Amino acid sequence: MEINSQTLERHWLPFSDNRSFKREPRLFVRAEGMYYWSHDGRKILDGSSGLFTSAAGHCRPEIATAVGEQLRTLDFTSSFMRSHPGAFELANQVAALTPTGLDHVFFCNSGSEAIDTAIKIAFAYHLARNESQRTYLVSRERAYHGVNIGGTALSGIVKNREAFGALMPGVLHLRHTLLPANRNKPGMGDVGADLAEDLQRFVQLVGEKRIAAVFVEPIAGSTGVIVPPTGYLERIREICTRYGILLVFDEVICGFGRTGEAFAAQSFGVTPDIITMAKALTNGAQPMGAVAVHTTIYQQIVNSATQNAPEFFHGYTYSAHPAACAAGLATLEIYRKEDLFHQARALSAYFQDAMFDLQDLPVVADIRGYGLLAGVEVKPAGTPGTRGTDLQGKLFERGLHIKTTADVAIVAPPFIATRSDVDTIAATLRDALREY
Ligand SMILES: Cc1ncc(COP(=O)(O)O)c(C=O)c1O
Repeated sequence: MEINSQTLERHWLPFSDNRSFKREPRLFVRAEGMYYWSHDGRKILDGSSGLFTSAAGHCRPEIATAVGEQLRTLDFTSSFMRSHPGAFELANQVAALTPTGLDHVFFCNSGSEAIDTAIKIAFAYHLARNESQRTYLVSRERAYHGVNIGGTALSGIVKNREAFGALMPGVLHLRHTLLPANRNKPGMGDVGADLAEDLQRFVQLVGEKRIAAVFVEPIAGSTGVIVPPTGYLERIREICTRYGILLVFDEVICGFGRTGEAFAAQSFGVTPDIITMAKALTNGAQPMGAVAVHTTIYQQIVNSATQNAPEFFHGYTYSAHPAACAAGLATLEIYRKEDLFHQARALSAYFQDAMFDLQDLPVVADIRGYGLLAGVEVKPAGTPGTRGTDLQGKLFERGLHIKTTADVAIVAPPFIATRSDVDTIAATLRDALREY
């Protein structure tokens, strides 16, 4: 295909400045391992694992083969009262990675669908317990829980909400935990656990049995990497347990090794009732999301239903799609065989040091990070986000793909990255940041 303003006009890119993109297109035509190749033949190092998806590196032949074989054998089956073995096998393998008790897995096609599924599971669970008065949901300022209406209502990023009407009613937002006292501090900040008391105040405000669930990204990723302060998640857990509120960890970014364990729940030693996941579940090779729930939630909903009738009126045409399950199984096998979660953990300290070394640059406002995830925030120039977008362009010109949100560069290398890849990412960032 020829690349010009006419051939690029009709595709409306999501979360993009379409006018700029179409003036100055950036298309990828190939990928392998740590690299992309652009349509104009440039080799681009992937510093954000695609979009936090491609933890095992790009174009893994094992995944391509598994998906191809699956599509030649069984391309589709409805998952409504029908299924295929791969769906059960993948559920078993995901359940083996989640914290003990979170043993039942509902499949969907994205992180956004996982969130809206989890919202419905929370309501259905309380209804099944005769507590349907629990109509409130709690999330956080600056949260990102995807883009469906439920997830947008939970979201705390203003730009993602303001154009879309009244959204879902009954959502309360805890304050975020991005505090000046923790600026430029690696890992979990010392200050801010007391912000969890906001949840206690909401309980007092709306009533002890009115909140259905609290949604928390263990590390808020898309907003620019906010690592929880020490003790914060524990306190949220305690309050949820005390008042019968379900705790949902949105691990769409953290899940599958990004924090050095399978899930951030394990890295931080706090077990939620529900985990949402997507992205690295299939290494990004097929769209897939999933919701892992505690057995008691599954049993409560399933056993409360009328005999011979569905218990949960929710699901997608492509839930547990055979090709996505095949990609998921092949991906988890790579993670196991190559011990990639361990590799991620082993590289973390070196990576975090390399990122925090950038703090001497005058334009750097803050650096935050944990595991193989870091946010490098630059001082804004003019409208917030302008400099971040400019930085993304400068990095691309230097052969580095990095996702930015507003004025934060979100660095999240694939787990196959070497120290030398980390050095290149850090040096390229330094070189670009020096221009401000
Ligand atoms: C924490 C979190 N939840 C949900 C989503 C939405 O996932 P998707 O884009 O697959 O719908 C994302 C995407 O980045 C995310 O980071």
